[in-house]
Amino acid sequence: MSQVGVQWCRVWVTMLLLLPSAPVEGGELCLMRSVLVSLQRVQAASFTKQESLDLPPGARPALYCSNKCTLRDWCQLWCAYPSNTPTHCLISNITVMPTYQETNLADALTCHTTKPKDLATHANIIAGKQDNMDPLRVKETLVDGFYNYNRDHCFYTVWSYKERWFTLDFGQPKCFQHVILYPQESSNDKICFNNVQVRVSNVTAVRPPEHFAAYDLFGEFPGAAPPGQVVEMKSPKPVCARFVTGHMLYNARFQVCHIEVF
Ligand SMILES: *[C@@H]1O[C@H](CO)[C@@H](O)[C@H](O)[C@H]1NC(C)=O
Ligand SMILES: *[C@@H]1O[C@H](CO)[C@@H](O)[C@H](O)[C@H]1NC(C)=O
Repeated sequence: MSQVGVQWCRVWVTMLLLLPSAPVEGGELCLMRSVLVSLQRVQAASFTKQESLDLPPGARPALYCSNKCTLRDWCQLWCAYPSNTPTHCLISNITVMPTYQETNLADALTCHTTKPKDLATHANIIAGKQDNMDPLRVKETLVDGFYNYNRDHCFYTVWSYKERWFTLDFGQPKCFQHVILYPQESSNDKICFNNVQVRVSNVTAVRPPEHFAAYDLFGEFPGAAPPGQVVEMKSPKPVCARFVTGHMLYNARFQVCHIEVF
């Protein structure tokens, strides 16, 4: 999916450069979406791949930075900074969803993300018990629209068959075709995403996770996910549902670092 997006971007940017007077900003033509992100948050993402580039004199920041991003297949976010008179581009592989809400507005930059608008960001979430030893690794990180490959941003459950699940609630039925899960970055975590099912429903499960068996199966991932794997599930036709659940059947703690539904 993101590969296809990147290809499109490359075509559009090339065309734009041939038309230097085109009034449209590169970011829009590239199907990238703008989002406010604090500079500190992007730069502090030590687990990410990123580059900071000097803008050549006379270069138009939006065109130059967006082009640099699309030429790197790992780039998912670019920002020109400082905001008022940019002298640099920051390009990064961190995941920032278009509806992400920056809390540190004093330091916020307008960045551009290759990610689609999705339903998981800001959805209500309930989930099995999270591990108290890891106070940051809570269910809320799955719906904040931000992931920087640091395991502190991963939802992580206790080791019990009753707790290896989460449910997103959109409030009313919403239609989507893709569910994308980011399991883990580290090989230490290899048994934390194994035999996972995604199911959908319009009714609340009275006793999760047993009741998930009555939900419609959207997709399943049988194997153990290797480090850095992204699990993409795509339905041939749009599916409409209020609830989306993720449930691990394998006997271990369940870890999910980021989820997208669109
Ligand atoms: C982002 O970069 C980090 C560090 O190189 C890497 O571990 C991670 O897999 C990358 N993610 C993507 C989606 O490119
Ligand atoms: C949920 O309800 C919508 C209409 O309200 C319907 O189109 C959809 O098929 C239902 N989904 C499920 C999983 O039952």
